Amino acid sequence: MSDRTGTGGFDPSGIDDDAWTELEKQLEATIPVYDRVNRIMTLGFDKGMRRHVRNHAKSGMNVLEVGCGPGSFAVDLVGMELTCLDPSTEMLKVCRKRVDAIRNKRGEAPAKYVEAIAEDMPLPDNTFDRVFCLFSFRDFKDKKQGLSEIFRVLKPDGQLVICDAGKANKIHGLFGRLYMMTFVQWVARWVTKDPNHPWKWLAKTYTHYGTHSYYKKMLNEVGFIDVKARLLFPGMSSRFKAKKPQK
Ligand SMILES: C[S@@+](CC[C@H](N)C(=O)[O-])C[C@H]1O[C@@H](n2cnc3c(N)ncnc32)[C@H](O)[C@@H]1O
Repeated sequence: MSDRTGTGGFDPSGIDDDAWTELEKQLEATIPVYDRVNRIMTLGFDKGMRRHVRNHAKSGMNVLEVGCGPGSFAVDLVGMELTCLDPSTEMLKVCRKRVDAIRNKRGEAPAKYVEAIAEDMPLPDNTFDRVFCLFSFRDFKDKKQGLSEIFRVLKPDGQLVICDAGKANKIHGLFGRLYMMTFVQWVARWVTKDPNHPWKWLAKTYTHYGTHSYYKKMLNEVGFIDVKARLLFPGMSSRFKAKKPQK
């Protein structure tokens, strides 16, 4: 970990406690307009990106979503045993109401909800076939520790799929920053009617987020195999996938 004082508490490996506490407050403030802003700022591509990630799981699997937020992804996991984990009480409240209402309509058992951070999950070893992290990996306090915990709770041969802001390399990151600092800010301001909208903080997490090669190396160091990274069309999001070895 490098010295984060010059960046307000952020670097590609994680976020200092004070900056993370403020970030969580800002993330909670996005709840009422979260899906709408995402849809507009991705020009509607968010649906396809989520579907692509979801297709890594099959009906009957035991699945964990880390950083489930208001349930935007969890809601469409059909026919699976589901655990939703998030450190925010407010996010989990919204997620539970939304996800269990739909699960109930589909005749499925309610999901389990766990209030915790990825870095310290009160979940047993070797439990899940799939772990998903959508737009939450960027917010981890300590990314390597979070990945180690995910590795621990995955079953042997289980798979982690991460989808987050796209940053294939430093040049792609410059275009990403331009998009975050202009179009995304404009959309958030227009939808929230608030010049101090929370997407200002989300731009910070993007600025200090690492590249594909940075996180591929980290995943390998934690013990994952078959580590792959790619941009999802049209390049706004990155998808990482990695497996826990069989033995
Ligand atoms: C932008 S939301 C993502 C919501 C959802 N997964 C989606 O598909 O849109 C990020 C979520 O990550 C959660 N989060 C932040 N830090 C976390 C950590 N260290 N461990 C797990 N979740 C975290 C936040 O509370 C927030 O609900």
